[in-house]
Amino acid sequence: MSVDLTDEKYEKHREAGEILAQVREETADRVEVGVSHLEVAEYAEERIRELGGEPAFPVNISVDEEAAHATPAPDDDATFGEEMINLDIGVHIDGWLADTAITVDLSGHPELADAPGEALEAAIEVIEPGVQTGAIGAEIQDVIEGYGYNPVVNLTGHGLGHWQQHTEPNIPNRAVEQGVELEVGDTVAIEPFATDGGGKVGEGSEVEIYALEREASVRDRAARQALEQIVERFRTLPFARRWLETPRAELALRRLRQQNVVHGYPVLKEQEGFLVSQKEHTVIITEDGCEVTTRSR
Ligand code: CO
Repeated sequence: MSVDLTDEKYEKHREAGEILAQVREETADRVEVGVSHLEVAEYAEERIRELGGEPAFPVNISVDEEAAHATPAPDDDATFGEEMINLDIGVHIDGWLADTAITVDLSGHPELADAPGEALEAAIEVIEPGVQTGAIGAEIQDVIEGYGYNPVVNLTGHGLGHWQQHTEPNIPNRAVEQGVELEVGDTVAIEPFATDGGGKVGEGSEVEIYALEREASVRDRAARQALEQIVERFRTLPFARRWLETPRAELALRRLRQQNVVHGYPVLKEQEGFLVSQKEHTVIITEDGCEVTTRSR
């Protein structure tokens, strides 16, 4: 079956990618010592809307040992210090996504900050129809280990589905035997993570990002109002607690979690004292390679 890469869905993936590339660069420029996390996250999310997209998930701001799923709380007063900062940002157009990430190093570890970007370029080089996901992981592992660091092996790249941020296939950050073949038209995010730690992240206790698990009828009024807003605005995409505009959102979320209507994404982190860096692009597999939708022009 042949895939038409001029289909509307691919055009929307591309449009999302173009907006996202611009927002990534503009947002990274604002990350400096003393600047507020909340200000940077809200800047990026607002800028995405100004340019005609919607945030596909809350802007992730990971600091030092944090790798993913951290976003400011509603009243967050944290500011950047001399730290390693990862920004992971997503845009969607009618549910068609682009996903990108960049490290801004304020900690003085330029090599660690560079390693995932070089690994990502090596991965992009080998992507073409028929490539095994394990072979992509091998490229990533090679480059990161060449720098003397470890890839984070329990975080992976992923497919991007309609209103779905994470679908099959997973794209490993190390060589694996069992992978799948990528095909023309597959739209995937490649996201190498490097660390001076052991290379495995665990769950922290903080949760600020949630997503709908299943629709259900809920009794509590606050929970019902929150659920209506979630279904209408975010559908199955991740959202931040600070995005909910209904009364008693805190309580509502707790209820919805207790009933398994929404699930939380705990912050994922390395052991304390280590640093994590990250780089990510979204690519569409083409007849003769791939098209990077989130490249700056
Ligand atoms: Co991603």
